[in-house]
Amino acid sequence: MPLSTIILAAGQGKRMNSDLPKVLQPLAGRPLISHVLEAADKLGADQNYIVYGHGGELVRAACRDDSLNWVHQAEQLGTGHAAAQAIGHIPDDHTVLVLCGDVPLTTVFTLGQLTDAGAGGLAVLTVVMDDATGYGRILRDPDGRVTAIVEERDATPEQRVVREVNTGLIASKAKHLKRWLGQLDNKNAQAEYYLTDIVGLAVAEHVQVEAVEAVSPDEVLGINDKLQLAEAESIYRRRITEDLMRGGVTIADPRRVDIRGSLRCGRDVVIDINAVFEGDVVLGDRVVIGPNCIIRDSHLGEDTQVHANSIVEQSSTGARCQIGPYARLRPESTLADEVKVGNFVEIKKSSLAFGSKVNHLTYVGDSEVGQRVNVGAGTITCNYDGAYKHRTVIGDDAFIGSGVQLVAPVRVGSGATIGAGTVVTRDAPDGKLTVGRARQGTVEGWRRPVKKLPK
Ligand code: UD1
Ligand code: CA
Repeated sequence: MPLSTIILAAGQGKRMNSDLPKVLQPLAGRPLISHVLEAADKLGADQNYIVYGHGGELVRAACRDDSLNWVHQAEQLGTGHAAAQAIGHIPDDHTVLVLCGDVPLTTVFTLGQLTDAGAGGLAVLTVVMDDATGYGRILRDPDGRVTAIVEERDATPEQRVVREVNTGLIASKAKHLKRWLGQLDNKNAQAEYYLTDIVGLAVAEHVQVEAVEAVSPDEVLGINDKLQLAEAESIYRRRITEDLMRGGVTIADPRRVDIRGSLRCGRDVVIDINAVFEGDVVLGDRVVIGPNCIIRDSHLGEDTQVHANSIVEQSSTGARCQIGPYARLRPESTLADEVKVGNFVEIKKSSLAFGSKVNHLTYVGDSEVGQRVNVGAGTITCNYDGAYKHRTVIGDDAFIGSGVQLVAPVRVGSGATIGAGTVVTRDAPDGKLTVGRARQGTVEGWRRPVKKLPK
């Protein structure tokens, strides 16, 4: 059956105390609403209708997806009013799943159950909470059939004792929803049009109402403030680290690793504390990530080790590379197999071929480095003339001494040796020693100045 979602996202999110609209607050490195859209997508929704209001233009700009349908709710008159703005666009034969832009962690499994249950009539997603304060309560008759949802502020003391609550997520047929949403009124404590009142309307029509219970309160956590945002982040982190550990990854302390995006690992990967993974990261078999590393949108080949305090961004390595400690691979760096990038080395937009070593205190930018090249400590590619970037090309088996400046554009030949301290401004030929440095002299009889003491 065709499926449409209505994603309620018009609320202000005042409790965030932020200039950023609530549904754009980042969870695991991307907006809350993108988690909801991802779930809708995995569920196979044909159309998504986002009801927006406060900060709507920012939300639309952030979502940049032409297939989304945007429905404006000028005044926030309640969840029922919000859903009513979208329902007119949806064909009668669609199943409709109502989601909330600030409830990002619901599993596709649970949403699938809710959708299936709602296809026949009406289904609400509920959860049992230790403390139900603030939520709409699920009322059932003596046979356990759902009869109504009552909001906290409209509930009697007896009703408030109920710990089964409405999560805000429902599913039904578009045809039914159109009818019920048209019948809502706002005669309640908050003078709002409550989406939850459709339960009473369905019961009155003898349409079956099913309650689907969420697996745990975690997956229906609504995010209203920064505390709940941090809680969601840790739930998300726990889910991902548990999956990784079940898949065989060794994580030194799952509470001290951050995964903001997707992390795929081969066999016997080891991740030390305080590692941060962002975007799409792939770690090959037996990769070791040391403490305090940041790895973003990168692919590391098998047996590669990234030592403490290194940053790898939009880069890739082959097998058996050694990186760090304190190394930085900036975007578009490509290391072949068995490359070594040591401490306080920065690599940018460069390729290093098999077995090359850049071990200490060096900057390699806009360069193409051949195989088995050795770059000495303190060497710098001078790639920028203040207006343009230029390339440095270093041939196979070259040996670059310490403290060399390679003023690009420049080429160092295969097997060439560059003497320490040389400023290379012209191409250095293959297989020869190139050295350019002021001749060393010793000044006889020279004395250091001495401070005269006051008399
Ligand atoms: C709602 C439910 C309550 C449930 C709770 C779960 C109703 C009447 N109550 O209460 O039973 O326990 O969620 O969190 O539905 N929104 C709009 N336009 C509006 C009002 C709200 O788009 O005019 C959006 C909000 O942005 C939010 C969602 O709807 O994403 C829920 O609104 P919220 O105000 O948080 O609902 P609650 O009063 O908490
Ligand atoms: Ca809420």
